[in-house]
Amino acid sequence: TMMTVGTNRTEKPLEEIYRAMEHCSLCSLGTTRKNLVFGEGNPAAALVFVGEAPGADEDLQGRPFVGRAGQLLTKIIGAMGLKREDVYICNILKCRPPGNRNPLPEEIEVCEPHLIEQLKAIRPRIICALGTFAAQTLLKKKGIPITVLRGRFHDYHGIPLMPTYHPAYLLRNPAAKKQVWEDVQQIMKVLAEEESG
Ligand code: URA
Repeated sequence: TMMTVGTNRTEKPLEEIYRAMEHCSLCSLGTTRKNLVFGEGNPAAALVFVGEAPGADEDLQGRPFVGRAGQLLTKIIGAMGLKREDVYICNILKCRPPGNRNPLPEEIEVCEPHLIEQLKAIRPRIICALGTFAAQTLLKKKGIPITVLRGRFHDYHGIPLMPTYHPAYLLRNPAAKKQVWEDVQQIMKVLAEEESG
């Protein structure tokens, strides 16, 4: 069950999870995508970033967060003293919604189990939810604004989850970078404590 996210040792490795879904057609995005964007990074990462869904660049390359927002995320990871390869980066939806429209409830419903499998395989120490959509979906708090959710740890089946603003939002509202820096500093503090203790 979901209670085992942090402790289950019978999880499938990421490669197996990917092979089982690489030709997914559980929703209509399977017919409009160019590439499925599974996620990438360290399979034993202490920190996982979860975004919303692939955009145009990600759909073309089959990799998460490689467009303008992705470049900003890469900078944030660097400012945390980490490299992209140290962490794991993925999305709630693995396929691009046409025109980057918001994910539909039925798309989330069929796709979220793949993310849950990924998180069970990686068993991170911390999850960072990027933006309203990832935060509300993972925390089952539809309707609660990111301004309210961000800035403190929530419990995701035993794993501390920090919601923060999406990097695409920061591109439009650079002033909010200050809050994101505060949020990721809280993450860095927990990671450092676990490293030394
Ligand atoms: N925005 C997201 O939420 N995810 C990506 O992979 C790219 C942009």
